[in-house]
Amino acid sequence: MLKQTIDDKWDLLSLDALDATAITALLDEAARHAGRRAPLPEQPAAGHTVAVAFYEASTRTSLSFERAAQRLGADVLHFASPASSAKKGESLLDTGRTIASIGADVIVLRHPSAGAPAQLARWLEIPVINAGDGRHEHPTQGLLDLLTIRQRKSRIDGLRVAIVGDVVNSRVARSALAGLHKLGAAVTLVGPPTLLPESFAALGATVAHDFDAVIADQDVVMMLRVQHERIAGKAFSSVDEYVYGYALDARRLAICKRDVLIMHPGPMNRGVELSVEVADDARCLARAQVANGVAVRMAVLGRALGI
Ligand code: NCD
Repeated sequence: MLKQTIDDKWDLLSLDALDATAITALLDEAARHAGRRAPLPEQPAAGHTVAVAFYEASTRTSLSFERAAQRLGADVLHFASPASSAKKGESLLDTGRTIASIGADVIVLRHPSAGAPAQLARWLEIPVINAGDGRHEHPTQGLLDLLTIRQRKSRIDGLRVAIVGDVVNSRVARSALAGLHKLGAAVTLVGPPTLLPESFAALGATVAHDFDAVIADQDVVMMLRVQHERIAGKAFSSVDEYVYGYALDARRLAICKRDVLIMHPGPMNRGVELSVEVADDARCLARAQVANGVAVRMAVLGRALGI
């Protein structure tokens, strides 16, 4: 395949920028790969190189992008900022150009600054995939959440979904909200006012501070990690207080619909946002979400590479 030019390259920067048709097409392609345990025999990305550049810690996202690239037959270049010249002060632009010069056909970027992938996408002629930028978006996480729900409920339209916890700091919540909203789900955001400002209602969601009052109506309950590293000052006076108001424990699970789906993007703080028994309950889909992450990233890399 000819290298894509700047005019026709496809970046994935946010779910907010995609419409329902584009999101559904990616989910349909990902569904073809879900559950795959072996590389694609035809190796459609053979001869292509995927660079995975992470300026922030990651387990699931970086490993699953690498796995997805391997399944498609691509070569993988791995870049982790603590081990690179970024430590010596090299800029994102120069690092991106270096990675492109070495022969990458697409860059997967995780960065602590919201907007960094969009900036890199403007600078480079190769596609950029956002693997999480600050508090902004994490579009492939949003897609894997949608795929996991769709597999089990056969639809997104008309579902009631609660996204619970540290919403203000969560790029996972922003991407999930954008995707769910576009595909017709009714989203309720739940959390303490310190972690869920009323302004989130402008994004098309219902804002609730009383978890117990909304839990019984939900088809899906998506729990967020309390992002201690992003919380400036005290958002709650003790972990016990947070658990009392917002953890999903056995008592709250008993109020949920019997066929409720429990989701968590990982990494989880066991005993904080999810009690240990709920984390291990069969209705908790955290591991299925991780597995779907590989399928979704195969679809996204395939689209970016034009294969
Ligand atoms: C999340 C992230 O880094 O945005 N993890 C992930 O990618 N699955 C969520 C988090 O850190 O809480």
